[in-house]
Formats: sequence, structure tokens, C-alpha cells
Amino acid sequence: MLIELLRKRRSIRQFEDKPVSSEQCDILIEAAVRSPSSRGFNPWEFVVVKDKNRIVQLSQAKSHGAAFLKNAPLAMVVCADTSKSDVWIEDASIAAIIIHLAAADLGLGSCWAQMRLRTRDDGSSASDYIAGILDLPEHIQVEAIIGIGHPASEMDGHGANTLLYNQVSYEKFGQRSYS
Ligand SMILES: Cc1cc2nc3c(=O)[nH]c(=O)nc-3n(C[C@H](O)[C@H](O)[C@H](O)COP(=O)(O)O)c2cc1C
Repeated sequence: MLIELLRKRRSIRQFEDKPVSSEQCDILIEAAVRSPSSRGFNPWEFVVVKDKNRIVQLSQAKSHGAAFLKNAPLAMVVCADTSKSDVWIEDASIAAIIIHLAAADLGLGSCWAQMRLRTRDDGSSASDYIAGILDLPEHIQVEAIIGIGHPASEMDGHGANTLLYNQVSYEKFGQRSYS
């Protein structure tokens, strides 16, 4: 049941020094390209990175929140061809979360590193920096990088008592229950 996976799911930023197997990697790629997209335009482009030096370079793409990538044995850079869809951000985001969930289903840990709209210390764009590392053409834009590996930390799922049911309305905004 997906709900059981969701009850356990957390963002994992610490990884064992152990590669993700090629079988697991293939499943993650299959999950990614099975993502739904608006009007079936499938604008996403994924760059699968295992090279340690390249991953370290990616971990320096922005000032905060990407350093954890350096210890990930696998990084999936989620991009999209902006010429294929006006809602490529939504499509790329859905693919990114599907990768995150597929990783959890494989017993792997993963975490999203936001790149679109993020900057480096000198104010330059994280996306431009990544484009330089990965040879991305101009019409391919980066949404996020998902760092993936065998979890080195255990985190409990969010407790039922912490869930924000107070942000759910019924029938009309602000009506917090049916009673
Ligand atoms: C759109 C989005 C952007 C995120 N960007 C980052 C990021 O740049 N760096 C990071 O360490 N975590 C990032 N995260 C992970 C969140 O910090 C994490 O999901 C949140 O703190 C809740 O923790 P949980 O996923 O364990 O429930 C991002 C998550 C989302 C959905």
C-alpha cells in the first residue's frame, strides 16, 4: 500500500559509502519516465550522475541546502525541455517526487535539492552552474537534483498527531469538518 510507504517516508541526507546497484538505478529511471505529465507532453530530461567528482561539483551548485549531495552515490538531475510544455515545472516536480518515492520503495534514502530559482554565493544562478557541468543546452532547465543512496540515518515517519488536517477544508474554504 502506498499509504504505508508515505507513513514512513522522510527526506534522507546521509548515505552509506555503498553504490546504488544498477538494477535499482534502472528501476528509478523507469519510475521517472513513467511519470504523468500535462497533456502527455513528457518534457522532462533526466541526467543520471554516479561520478563522484561530478556529484561533488553538483553539491556546490548553491549556497545552502545542497551540500548533502556530496555523499550521495547517485544523483538524478531532474530537468525539462521548456519548449515542450508551458507547465514543465509541474511536470518536472512530479517526476522528482516519483523518484523520491520509488527510492523509498527500494529501501533507499533520498532528498530533493531545489535548484530552479536558487543562487550561488556570488549571486549567479545554480541552474547555469549545473548547465556548465552537465553540458545542458539553453532550452533544458534544471528543476532539482535528487540525491539517492543507502540510508545512513534512520528517521521516523511523521506522527499522525503532527499532520496538518487543520489545513483541509470541506466543500468550502475554512469549513474544517463535515459536522
Ligand atoms: C520543493 C522542495 C524543495 C526542497 N529543497 C530542498 C533543498 O534544497 N535541500 C534540502 O536539504 N532539502 C530540500 N527539500 C526537502 C525538505 O526540506 C523536506 O521535504 C522537508 O523538510 C520535510 O521533511 P521530510 O521530507 O523528511 O518530511 C525540498 C523539498 C521539496 C518538496
